[in-house]
Amino acid sequence: MKHLLSVEDLGADGIEEVMRLTDSFVEVSGRAIPKVPTLRGRTVVSLFYEESTRTRLSFETAAKRLSADTMNFSIATSSVKKGESLRDTVQTIDAMGVDAIIVRHASAGVPWQVASWVDASVINAGDGWHEHPTQALLDCYTIRERVSSLAGLRIAIVGDVKHSRVARSDVLAFTALGADVTLVAPPTLLPPSLAGWPVEVSHDVDDVLPKADVVYLLRMQRERQTEALLPSLREYTARFGLTRERARLLADDALVMHPGPMNRGVEIAAEVADLPRSVITRQVANGVAVRMAVLFLLLGAGRR
Ligand code: CP
Repeated sequence: MKHLLSVEDLGADGIEEVMRLTDSFVEVSGRAIPKVPTLRGRTVVSLFYEESTRTRLSFETAAKRLSADTMNFSIATSSVKKGESLRDTVQTIDAMGVDAIIVRHASAGVPWQVASWVDASVINAGDGWHEHPTQALLDCYTIRERVSSLAGLRIAIVGDVKHSRVARSDVLAFTALGADVTLVAPPTLLPPSLAGWPVEVSHDVDDVLPKADVVYLLRMQRERQTEALLPSLREYTARFGLTRERARLLADDALVMHPGPMNRGVEIAAEVADLPRSVITRQVANGVAVRMAVLFLLLGAGRR
């Protein structure tokens, strides 16, 4: 495999391979010196046209733990500010002989365009509302860490599905591994068509929560909401937020997940995010080992 653009590039077998590789990189990450020479001499570039804390830093950490050289491209101090096009920018970076370009962009499809322009491997770190494959992989790994298999697991994805690239990649990954997914949202926060999505839909979170093994809260993506989709955030929280009272509906062993960054007090109550059943910081920790696995898969021994 040369690029990771969509969860569909992997399929169930590919996801399982990433999970197996991640086990070994979790072990590396637990060492006193968490570093291996696997990607020595390789160069990995982060090209983020959108803000990020988790994804950018965890890819950088992952590349460094594999001994790759890393370059961080800052839009604010680059020639993008002088009007350089995306194509000229990525071809300039590629001409320096880099091995992988990690791309985040506000427009869906940009990582596919970049992959068609460069020799380097391309990893989609989030394209618009479309996909965020490494988030889905770290989510699968985090669930498996607690329950060993996703087969038959009932996963409720709650919130702003319409604007969520995480929801799209998670649905693909969770269902590929055999989970049953229910999307829970007001009609205005669901995509106009769910044709082809292998999911059930509910508008009643109180009905879904007692049956869920995992409840996955989505961030309310106000920066992508160009029209009034909700009467108010307060009303959204009252009807769909995982409040302290609502969290009591969950089964004793049900997990709470969120991709971050959280809007505490909107989609998730501050104290619920910190409950023992919340694995949100495990998701972040596992993200480093999962991204080591992805970099190894694309650039490891003899790949280029
Ligand atoms: N989950 C996620 O993609 O977070 P960042 O936007 O901080 O990278």
